[in-house]
Amino acid sequence: MGSKKRKRGEKPTGHPRNKYFDNPPDFTELASKYSTFAPYVFYSGDGRPRIDWTDFNATRELTRVLLHHDHGLNWWIPDGQLCPTVPNRSNYIHWIEDLLSSDIIPKVQADGNTAKGFDIGTGANCIYPLLGASLLGWKFVGSDVTDVALEWAEKNVKSNPHISELIEIRRVNMDNPASSSEELNDEPGKYGQCTDEAVVIGPSPPAHLQMHSRIGKGYDGPPILVGVVKDGETFDFCMCNPPFFETIEEAGLNPKTSCGGTVQEMVCPGGESAFITRIIEDSVQLRQSFRWYTSMVGRKTNLKVLISKLWEVGATIVKTTEFVQGQTCRWGLSWSFLPASKKIVPSHVAEKNNLSFMLEGLQRHQSAFDVLQSVESYFYSIGASSKLDSASFKVDVTLSAEQCNSILKTQTQNGNEQDILISANCPSDQLNDMRLRVSVFQQIPGTLLVKGLLLQKEILVPGVFSVIFQQLQEVLKSKFSKGIR
Ligand SMILES: C[S@@+](CC[C@H](N)C(=O)[O-])C[C@H]1O[C@@H](n2cnc3c(N)ncnc32)[C@H](O)[C@@H]1O
Repeated sequence: MGSKKRKRGEKPTGHPRNKYFDNPPDFTELASKYSTFAPYVFYSGDGRPRIDWTDFNATRELTRVLLHHDHGLNWWIPDGQLCPTVPNRSNYIHWIEDLLSSDIIPKVQADGNTAKGFDIGTGANCIYPLLGASLLGWKFVGSDVTDVALEWAEKNVKSNPHISELIEIRRVNMDNPASSSEELNDEPGKYGQCTDEAVVIGPSPPAHLQMHSRIGKGYDGPPILVGVVKDGETFDFCMCNPPFFETIEEAGLNPKTSCGGTVQEMVCPGGESAFITRIIEDSVQLRQSFRWYTSMVGRKTNLKVLISKLWEVGATIVKTTEFVQGQTCRWGLSWSFLPASKKIVPSHVAEKNNLSFMLEGLQRHQSAFDVLQSVESYFYSIGASSKLDSASFKVDVTLSAEQCNSILKTQTQNGNEQDILISANCPSDQLNDMRLRVSVFQQIPGTLLVKGLLLQKEILVPGVFSVIFQQLQEVLKSKFSKGIR
């Protein structure tokens, strides 16, 4: 497998809204509440409760009790079917939640406030519709091709009457072989580049990123979206945990875990690159029927090639993220054909290298040091390096071009003609690394002055510092100045 292994000691990067982010499942508690789970729990030398991850029955029972205990869901799968790990699958759901709530691609669906998703290959476990519906009230169509997946997905939906109305399980018509009128060619990508957790839009990639496509084998399996999505249907998003492997041997068996998985679930000719390429081809035809197209990707090399494909076919935005699953990484890839928004920075602000704002409404127990720590953890959360100097009440931050780019995606404002437009699509190669200093000064009790200083002269795109500082302002105000506007 090509997935990157996370090194010991590296900070976990699960989604912060994931229930299990800093609160992993407590096996002792679960064993005390669920007698069926108790036999799988044992205690290792250090006294910590464990389960045998190589035992399919143990991993399935863990998933069953977690779905019941934490999500109020009834669930089961037959022996050997792919068994999902609930914390990992939740990360994908929360990432989509972020995509839907951001303004990068404005909401266009007319179905009230209920988001509607399409889960490509929902599996017997039907995990994404079950989690999306129970956590967020989303509607779903979950598609699949195998009888066992369709039968058990249906059973899992019916076992949960409180959400069953939200989920439709749809059989993919195998008589309708997939063929795309928009076959992608193997030309080098024309646009874009790959960064983790970044919006990557726009022309002129650096030469070294103009790679030749490694996607050779086409997909010739059953339809995926075209032919399955009905005429006139619209969705806020699609999602997919694709069959990652070209052969069952390649799927190999991770000796450290046993999550099951049949050939039909794990393997497709051409592997994930062929499967996702077909999703891209289908998206070219269906275009704005979906606000966001998304898929999991198991190999970083495939991710880069797929991003190139997306620029070739004219996606307006491409965004990626990294999902950490135990010690293994996978990636989330999303794209859209709807117009992406731009960031607008007034020209007089764009030129400035120092900016400030008042942070009001701090509670008695909140100090300047707490604010500095929040500054540090905000930049840390986006992967930037920052150094807090508590003696002089300042934090020095270094952001890479990619990290600047990932912040650019988040803010959208209205502006006028003199304003500088920074495309939310600004490619990372047009940005440079940035060093800045954030200092706080006590004004009156409950109010701090927060100053930002750009520590370098050469900035390729004016206004980026201002967007970053503005984003910090929003983060601090939402934490410390609740109710003050
Ligand atoms: C890796 S499994 C994912 C199952 C589940 N979504 C999960 O995350 O555990 C891939 C699923 O895709 C299904 N599949 C394969 N080709 C498909 C197609 N053309 N349309 C819909 N589902 C398909 C397989 O039957 C399998 O259930």
